[in-house]
Amino acid sequence: MPFLTKLRVSKLRNLDSVSLTPSPGFNLIYGKNGSGKTSLLEAIYLLGRGKTFRSSSKAPVIQNNADESVVFCELDDGETLGFSKLRQGEQKTHINGEKTASRAELAQVLPLQILNADAFKILEGGPSVRRAYLDWGVFHVEQSFILHWRQAQRALQNRNSLLKNKIVNPAEVRPWTRELCQHAEKIDAFRNEHAIQLENCLAEILENLLILDNFSIHYFKGWDDEHKLEDILKSNIQRDVRNGFTSAGPHRADLRIQIGKNSAADVLSRGQQKLLVIAMKLAQALALKKVLGKGCLFLVDDLPAELDSANRAKVLAILAQIGEQVFVTGIEKEQLFEPLQKEKELKLFHVEHGKISTE
Ligand SMILES: Nc1ncnc2c1ncn2[C@@H]1O[C@H](COP(=O)(O)OP(=O)(O)OP(=O)(O)O)[C@@H](O)[C@H]1O
Ligand SMILES: [Mg+2]
Repeated sequence: MPFLTKLRVSKLRNLDSVSLTPSPGFNLIYGKNGSGKTSLLEAIYLLGRGKTFRSSSKAPVIQNNADESVVFCELDDGETLGFSKLRQGEQKTHINGEKTASRAELAQVLPLQILNADAFKILEGGPSVRRAYLDWGVFHVEQSFILHWRQAQRALQNRNSLLKNKIVNPAEVRPWTRELCQHAEKIDAFRNEHAIQLENCLAEILENLLILDNFSIHYFKGWDDEHKLEDILKSNIQRDVRNGFTSAGPHRADLRIQIGKNSAADVLSRGQQKLLVIAMKLAQALALKKVLGKGCLFLVDDLPAELDSANRAKVLAILAQIGEQVFVTGIEKEQLFEPLQKEKELKLFHVEHGKISTE
C-alpha cells in the first residue's frame, strides 16, 4: 500500500500552513483540546475520500477569513494527491496533477480507514452505516463492484420515481426491476463473500482483543433468502406503489451484529463497543491484506478515550501488525507513546494552536 511521504496543509480550519514528513509506520499526534489534531486527520481524509468525516458536512473546512484551503501529499510510489476548496464552494481533487472525475479514484489510490467517535454508529446507527462499512471492503477487493453498484442505484432510482408517481404499468416498471435484479445478484455475491472473509478476520482479531460470548455477525442481503428478488418485487408491486419505494433489494442489506439474541449496541458497555468497532475496522484491513496483499492507512482520532491502558496497548499492537501507515491522535503524549516505545517506525508530532512540531 502506498504511504504518505510528505503532507502539506494550508488554511484548513486552524491549520494555517503545515508541512510534515510522516513516518511510514506510526505517527503520534498529540496536543491539547482545540489544537488541531482532528483537523490534521481531516486533511489526510480529504485527500483519500474527497469529503470530510465531520458529521456536519456544511462545516466550513476553509479557515475563517481565508479564500481557499489546499491539501497536498506525496506518496512513496511517486504519486501525488491534491485537494482544494474555494470559499465559493468549488472543490477539486487531483491525482498526479490531473483532476479526478469521481471520489472512487481517490479511494483506489489511497485506501484509508478512519476510527473516531462516529465509528460507534456501526453498532448503533441504521443499516446504511453498516452497508457503507461492508461496501468499503467490497469496493477495494472487487474492482467491478462499483459498476454494478452504480447501475443498481440508477435502476432503483428510476423504479422508485415511477412508483412515487403511482405508475403501475408493468411495461414501464419491468425493465428497471430486471436491471436492478441483475446487478443485485452480483452485489449480493460480492458482499456475501466479503462478509465471510470479514467474519473470519474478525474472529482472529477478537481472540486477542475482546472475549464476547455468543457474539455473531450475520449478513442480510436485503431480501428473503428463500425467493428470487424478481419474484419478490413482482408480488410486492402493489405495496411498493402504495409506499412509493422498492421494498426489497441490495439497498436494504444489513449486517446484524448480536450478542445472543440482542443487538450488540444494546448490551455492550461503551468501552466494549469501542473495542468491537475497532476490531471490525481492523478485520476489514486484515481481509484486504489477505486478499490483495496490501493493507490500508489508518486514521485513529483520540484512541485513548474510553479505553483502559491494557486495551490501548492491545489495539496499538494489532494496528502495528495490520495497519501500514497509522496516524493516531491523543491529548496526552505518554498514553500513546508508552506502549509504542519499541516501534522502529515511529514519529511524534506535537500540535499547538494549529502549528505542528516534530520531536
Ligand atoms: N473554519 C475554521 N477556521 C478556523 N478555525 C477553525 C475552523 N473550524 C474549526 N476551527 C477551530 O480549529 C481548532 C482545531 O479543531 P480540531 O477539531 O482539529 O481540534 P482537536 O485538536 O482535535 O481538539 P480536541 O482534542 O478537542 O478534539 C478548534 O479550535 C476549532 O474551533
Ligand atoms: Mg479532536
